[in-house]
Amino acid sequence: MTPSEHATAAPPALGGPEAAPFEFHAPTRLVVGAGGIARLGTLAAELGARRVLVVSDPGVERAGHTAAGVRALEAAGMVVGRFADFGENPGTGAVEAGTAVAREFRPDLLVGLGGGSSMDCAKGINFLLCCGGRMQEYRGRRTATAALLPAIAVPTTAGTGSETQSFALITDDATGMKMACGDPRAAFRVAILDVALTLTQPSRVTALTGIDALSHAVESHVSRAATPASRVFSRAAFALLARGLPRVFADPTDVAARADVQLGAAWAGLAIENAMLGAAHALANPLTAAHHVVHGQAVGLMLPHVVRFNAAAGAAGYDELVAELPAPVTDARAAVRLAAWLEAILARSGLARSLTALGLAGADIPALAAAAAGQWTAGFNPRPVATGDLSLLYEAAR
Ligand SMILES: [Fe+2]
Repeated sequence: MTPSEHATAAPPALGGPEAAPFEFHAPTRLVVGAGGIARLGTLAAELGARRVLVVSDPGVERAGHTAAGVRALEAAGMVVGRFADFGENPGTGAVEAGTAVAREFRPDLLVGLGGGSSMDCAKGINFLLCCGGRMQEYRGRRTATAALLPAIAVPTTAGTGSETQSFALITDDATGMKMACGDPRAAFRVAILDVALTLTQPSRVTALTGIDALSHAVESHVSRAATPASRVFSRAAFALLARGLPRVFADPTDVAARADVQLGAAWAGLAIENAMLGAAHALANPLTAAHHVVHGQAVGLMLPHVVRFNAAAGAAGYDELVAELPAPVTDARAAVRLAAWLEAILARSGLARSLTALGLAGADIPALAAAAAGQWTAGFNPRPVATGDLSLLYEAAR
């Protein structure tokens, strides 16, 4: 197009909510491909590293993935330290213990090698090592007070999306509540998506993390903070997960399906980074904090009810997700079909489908609803949710 043509061309049509200003952040370089963990050492070297602390939980160590990462780092001349003294849902005490190890070792790069717990623990250590203080001080977004160390993620599960977003979910040991602690500088510089690493997940972990990733795609797509750019990733993540998860549940050794789910989870993480989540996560967090229901189980159980609740108030966007399902429906029944499909895949995953099945009773609901109303992520739900609404959603899930 010449300058004169440019001057006379009709301007693009603008208007409606899609014309609202927005930003989009994709802070992490993705290195995708089977066997990618062998590149960990050269990727660390590209970031100028010489001393690398690998944060990797004991289960991942037992699967042999940690040793593969350490071999790759040592082959590139790195001095490697290790921290593994933490479990599922790392707490403030575990992050403090990891920080003590890091202060002694003095790394110039961190690696989170494992599931969400390993990646989040590495992020938490980065905050305390570089900024000092306690983890509680970094709750919220843009909370780092100094530059953080560069970090690389090597996910071995496909679910949390921690590899592509800047929040660490750390449990406050004193209260049991999950704290989202985030800063753009806490995002991993590189994420290695090596599908071979996800093949060793126990089937329950595959189910829990896969359903969590699906909930990230759905909630971020309709979030109040969603933008035209974030929805591209929510929708693409949903398509990959909707295609991949049923195949992975049927055949855990299906590498192509595992790759779909791994990429879908990473893109859903990118969508969260830009659009946040919604009421299903607000409802899930108190179930985890007060009743120790695992996150993927809690959010998967609540999500279909939240979809119906939002759709009843005319929340837009579910039809675009349903269009990615086999035999899509694009009329007003789209959200109903989406909720039914989500319930079917929850059943197929083998997870519980009611609060009763998890041992909870109606008497537990008032306290749960009060706690859910205080969750940060509730404010991003497309339909406003008060405590009474949250009670009804828990009732619907009984
Ligand atoms: Fe989640």
